[in-house]
Amino acid sequence: MKAVILVGGQGTRLRPLTINTPKAMVPVLNKPFLEHVIGHLSGHNIRDIILAQGHLAQPIEGYLGDGRRLGVRLSYIVEDAPLGTAGAVKNAQKHLDDSFLVLNGDIFTDLDISAMTGLHRQRKATATIALTPVADPTSYGLIETNAQGRVTRFLEKPSWEQVTTNMINAGTYILEPEVMAHIPEQTEFSFERQVFPMLLDRGEPIYAYPSTAYWIDIGNPEKYLQLNRDLLYGKSSRYRLAQGKEVSVGENSRIQPTARITGPALIGENCYIGRKATIKGPAVIGPGCQIQDGAIIEQSIIWSAAQIGAGAKVTGSIIAAHCRLGADSIIEESVLGDNVTVATGYRLKPGSQIWPGTRLPEQGKKA
Ligand code: GTP
Repeated sequence: MKAVILVGGQGTRLRPLTINTPKAMVPVLNKPFLEHVIGHLSGHNIRDIILAQGHLAQPIEGYLGDGRRLGVRLSYIVEDAPLGTAGAVKNAQKHLDDSFLVLNGDIFTDLDISAMTGLHRQRKATATIALTPVADPTSYGLIETNAQGRVTRFLEKPSWEQVTTNMINAGTYILEPEVMAHIPEQTEFSFERQVFPMLLDRGEPIYAYPSTAYWIDIGNPEKYLQLNRDLLYGKSSRYRLAQGKEVSVGENSRIQPTARITGPALIGENCYIGRKATIKGPAVIGPGCQIQDGAIIEQSIIWSAAQIGAGAKVTGSIIAAHCRLGADSIIEESVLGDNVTVATGYRLKPGSQIWPGTRLPEQGKKA
């Protein structure tokens, strides 16, 4: 079976991380997110994968190429203008002549795709939609089913009064090729809001595949942090720190003996951790980072080649690639885009989101 992964969205809610980096390429445990998704597919023997791209297409193709390194065959389709979830799949029609899988490219899940495929075939469904339970379904697409698991109703972003189930559309579908006949060419079109409700009205057999397997979408910075933490704590069955160790350190990284590291923590290759520096997990330090003497990193994700000055403190934050934090600066519960520079001793207001390339303090503002 072939799979289409939707990776053409703008990722606005994950800004500033997605200004220069497509959402599908943000690092999770020091690997681009999409690599985890592709690994999951190939684990279920799905190796023909089409990436439906739009916004920021080049970095994805530039990094993954033909997919050989990951043991899969990748094809790329790029949209001139955003076509929405269904329009993007219609655009890939020439690749799809049999039952196929569609995945939102911002979801990490342990969903049993093989079992889902089995159910789709057994029920002779036109479409099978994976469902996952969430505590608050009001910002998702809610799906009601009958006792046989056949879908009876779709409700996008319901109010609390309308909530009748906690099962939501998990962003993974198996579809028959005839579904394509209901999607117009080169037109913005949505599976969730248009195609599925239309198929339901026509009486087509749409089935649900409910699953309690690990599932999260990395739509916003909180969820992105959460995914990294969950993986470090082993909540996905697919990831464990190397040899079950609480702290994993990449090749050629130098850690001073007086540095204190408490896991779970993942430290990339070619890092330097200075004297009396503290790393308190869950934390991920990207490759090539320099954490100077006495700096403190707590419950944070740091992308590659960041420089954290002596005595600086970073808690509950995401620091993107090539940031430079001056000595004794303080960053709390904030998100810094790439190449942000923070002056010595500067204390950033907690909860800040800083655009790539910013120098703090900004001109005219006091440190
Ligand atoms: P926000 O701007 O923060 O809402 O993010 P998004 O648009 O990137 O993501 P959304 O949750 O709306 O979309 C779910 C998935 O579909 C993501 O993996 C997107 O990359 C993808 N997607 C959304 N719209 C399009 C589109 O027009 N074309 C393609 N190819 N993919 C899309």
